[in-house]
Amino acid sequence: MKVLVTGGAGYIGSHVVRQLGEAGHDIVVFDNLSTGYRWAVTCGELVVGDLADEQAIADLFSRHRFEAVLHFAANIVVPESVENPLKYYSNNTRNTLNLLKAVEDHQVPYMVFSSTAAVYGMPDETVLTEDLPLAPINPYGASKMMSERMIMDLAAASSLNYVILRYFNVAGANPDGLLGQATPEATHLIKVACECVTGKRNGMSVFGTDYDTRDGTCIRDYIHVEDLAKAHVMALDYMADGGESRVLNCGYGRGFTVREVIDVVKRKSGKDFPVQETGRRAGDPAALMADNSRIKQVLGWQPDYDDLDTIVGTALAWEKIWQDKQG
Ligand code: UFG
Repeated sequence: MKVLVTGGAGYIGSHVVRQLGEAGHDIVVFDNLSTGYRWAVTCGELVVGDLADEQAIADLFSRHRFEAVLHFAANIVVPESVENPLKYYSNNTRNTLNLLKAVEDHQVPYMVFSSTAAVYGMPDETVLTEDLPLAPINPYGASKMMSERMIMDLAAASSLNYVILRYFNVAGANPDGLLGQATPEATHLIKVACECVTGKRNGMSVFGTDYDTRDGTCIRDYIHVEDLAKAHVMALDYMADGGESRVLNCGYGRGFTVREVIDVVKRKSGKDFPVQETGRRAGDPAALMADNSRIKQVLGWQPDYDDLDTIVGTALAWEKIWQDKQG
């Protein structure tokens, strides 16, 4: 299939591009390289451009006849979205609208959209099904919820089919050390802990130890980026086989506490580093896990890396490679 991958030079997009290439798809990556990298695009053609530029999008779609669009390009830092909400509504929501106009104009049949568990907000449940009401508590989640809705509405009014994937906590790296998370100023737990191992940071904080969980710290459903990438490739196959539009959680359905994650990073690396226990971070729900029965049933998806040691091991290996790459 001829596919457009927006944000294909970023962390998750680059892993998906590699798997799409292995599956034989013909790939065009569109990325403004704001947080992505040229080297991360390991197959297909890279077009450097921004989704705010409607002319650039029009040119792109007139040069290629895409059968599918996979839309990753977005800002993803929750606290930043609280401080600068319009950045998120511009880059995430409005630029998705710009992309959808081209999808409509060129009658692209299939779309896969990167959404997030942040659309659920602070639910009472800890294991989340896709049918829960959406109640995001920050502009990041709201910007993604609005994008979801635009895609659904366009699909209802046209022949577009979509798979919206709601990611839980994505972590880990390509097991061969080819790709990994290179985001500057990363805030995600596993990345931060790995940066303590390489010495990029001198230590880290645990945000909140008084949650109603087994050790008082927050529980999250960490999913390996290669398993997540596989879900995108399967979503394309599913739609090409005539599958109807779906919203699917992407997670393993189990969780680890912040302390458990840090312990695994220390054990796997053999390195101790200072960890300071501080107060809660605003907007953190105590526990979030995916009910993943739907993605298993609809796509036949099964994880290959559902093991925290493997997730952390690949993240650690990548962190060292990435530090060396930067000199
Ligand atoms: N944490 C720390 N110290 C750190 C970093 C994180 O204690 O230095 C804790 C957080 O407080 C939280 C847990 O580790 O309890 C996980 O935090 P992350 O920042 O790694 O991830 P989040 O759960 O906040 O965010 C993830 C996705 C978001 C998505 C959200 C949905 O990265 O895109 O889940 O809840 F919006």
